[in-house]
Amino acid sequence: MQLILLGLPGAGKGTQAQLLAQRLGLLHISTGDLFRAAAAEGTGLGKRAQEYMSRGELVPDEVTISMLLDRIAKPDAAEGIMLDGFPRTIPQAEALDRALEGQSRKIDGALYIQVPEDLLMARLTGRWNCPSCGAIYHELSSPPQQSGKCDKCSAALIQRADDRPETVATRLSTNRSWTEQLADFYQKQGKLRPVDGTGDPSDVTGRLLRELETVTAG
Ligand code: AP5
Repeated sequence: MQLILLGLPGAGKGTQAQLLAQRLGLLHISTGDLFRAAAAEGTGLGKRAQEYMSRGELVPDEVTISMLLDRIAKPDAAEGIMLDGFPRTIPQAEALDRALEGQSRKIDGALYIQVPEDLLMARLTGRWNCPSCGAIYHELSSPPQQSGKCDKCSAALIQRADDRPETVATRLSTNRSWTEQLADFYQKQGKLRPVDGTGDPSDVTGRLLRELETVTAG
């Protein structure tokens, strides 16, 4: 199965992708995580991506598409993928469709996590991430048991540089129209599954799983 998680920054894509990918036996691929790993390694790709990410802008398509297509061509992606943060533009969506078609695969569903924008700023500015295992926390809605320390691997938690309020505002305005265009793209393919992303994360997971039943049934 090939699934996409769509949604504005802070909608809960990463949180839900980690849970669903594990439950469904899919490989979770986050383009944001790939860019952050490349930036941490100091590669040319990482340095270039970091310039755009720190401004809250999209990394150019030619960089993003080739990185993602290389990743999904690896053997560990053959059993199925859960894409988080890709595609973000129509050219990315079209390139993905072409690449999957070349492997006799296709996107099965695009789960669109919808959250009112007034909730997103608080979600992002209160987020803490584990740089070691990737776990995601929030200082109010899902705090770690011990402040500043990952529950799963005990690493010191960090806040993302692009979660500053001024950068979050740019990220939201950058992504607003693209997200709608992508929703329209997958709606026309009959693959869009809108899901209410408010409430407890476990409730959101339940709604996503119910939508997925319609994907597998269809
Ligand atoms: P990326 O890392 O993909 O960031 P994003 O899309 O802005 O999404 P986030 O990771 O910020 O949010 P999320 O929806 O995953 O929410 P999360 O689960 O963490 O991309 C970063 C940058 O990389 C981009 O700005 C761009 O520059 C570049 N990039 C990446 N992909 C690209 C592409 N394809 N093309 C071009 N450029 C690209 O949750 C957020 C917080 O809310 C957490 O604290 C969490 O605990 C909390 N939370 C989650 N669910 C709930 C809930 N139900 N109730 C309350 N709190 C909740």
